[in-house]
Amino acid sequence: MRRDPLAYLGDDLDALKEQNLYRRLRILEDEQKAHTTFDHRSVVNLSSNNYLGLTTHPRLRARALEATERYGVGSGSVRTIAGTMEIHMELERRLAEFKKVEAVVVFQSGFAANAGTVAAILTKDDVVISDELNHASIIDGCRLSRATVKVFPHKDVEAARRIITGLPADQRKLLITDGVFSMDGDLGPLPALCQLAEATGCIMMVDDAHASGVFGANGRGTVDHFGMHGRVDVQVGTLSKAMGALGGYVAGSRNLIEFLYHRARPFLFSTSHPPAVAAACIAALDVLIEEPAIMERLWDNTRFFKAGLERLGFNTGLSESPITPVIAGDSAKANKLSDRLFEEGVFAQAIGYPTVARDKARVRTIVTATHTREDLQFALDKFSQVGRELGLV
Ligand SMILES: Cc1ncc(COP(=O)(O)O)c(C=O)c1O
Repeated sequence: MRRDPLAYLGDDLDALKEQNLYRRLRILEDEQKAHTTFDHRSVVNLSSNNYLGLTTHPRLRARALEATERYGVGSGSVRTIAGTMEIHMELERRLAEFKKVEAVVVFQSGFAANAGTVAAILTKDDVVISDELNHASIIDGCRLSRATVKVFPHKDVEAARRIITGLPADQRKLLITDGVFSMDGDLGPLPALCQLAEATGCIMMVDDAHASGVFGANGRGTVDHFGMHGRVDVQVGTLSKAMGALGGYVAGSRNLIEFLYHRARPFLFSTSHPPAVAAACIAALDVLIEEPAIMERLWDNTRFFKAGLERLGFNTGLSESPITPVIAGDSAKANKLSDRLFEEGVFAQAIGYPTVARDKARVRTIVTATHTREDLQFALDKFSQVGRELGLV
């Protein structure tokens, strides 16, 4: 009999189980909402990126259905062959206007936008100067580009400066940060990084996945929040989180976008969005502009919940956004905290190594605009009970 050549994967999975790093997928049996059902249990959901509740917003639903009726369910091709529909172009025009840039290109996901862009605009002769906590899609883009990667300690602009000044002046350099760091909820130091990029001739790139729809006027992102319009060369945003649907985009100059149309591999070699997705994203932009009260509710809820967790005495790190980590220590402890909360009716997913450092395992909470005060108070009560049970507070 043939020996299974993939047997080593089973050994690796066993090792993950021994290290408390094995996670079973939780199954969502209802809509992605603030209060919903996972694994047959009704829970307050603190694990989604659905910041504004747009996954189930009636305007997005209606536009997606209408587009499906009118154009069918698929685009049938990659963008560069036959898969560029008028609705894709409309979405890009609307995003460019919203972001106050010359042009935008939409990708299938935020991951594809980051990885595809970094890999396209750099070569092996170039250097990336990257925050140590930047997202995996940036890291993969750097690897694909074959550029040299120099990592600076989290948010340490002076360390980034030392790296840059040690490099040949004529070498092409990309300085890159997340706008909001996804596991800690803190913000990249954009003003200081933009200044550094300008002083040293770096290309400045920001991944605003968790800031899209959350920071800046009407959710325009951290570039708007910090007043950095015109100073960030490459802005990445996502349509998969606060925007409620799916996708990623790059906002910048007309030349950048035209270049990515020709060289970004996910754009060239992977099918474009179904029309329903593009239509839902356009409706999401309408909601951001016409219903600003939703964003205000998100921030009211964020302030309420953060203050509650801090009052209880949890280690919540340095978050400045609706993402609040509750740092538990090792993975076993974080998993226990998450599992016990789930039994009590609160879903806050545990995050361990390699997503975060081994000794900084946590449950990550994300508040949305659609949580009620009762939902959040219930969750705080359960955090208090389980936190005491596990000796975390
Ligand atoms: C910081 C950051 N960038 C990019 C992405 C990728 O976005 P998407 O889910 O749209 O692929 C994520 C999502 O996990 C993220 O947290």
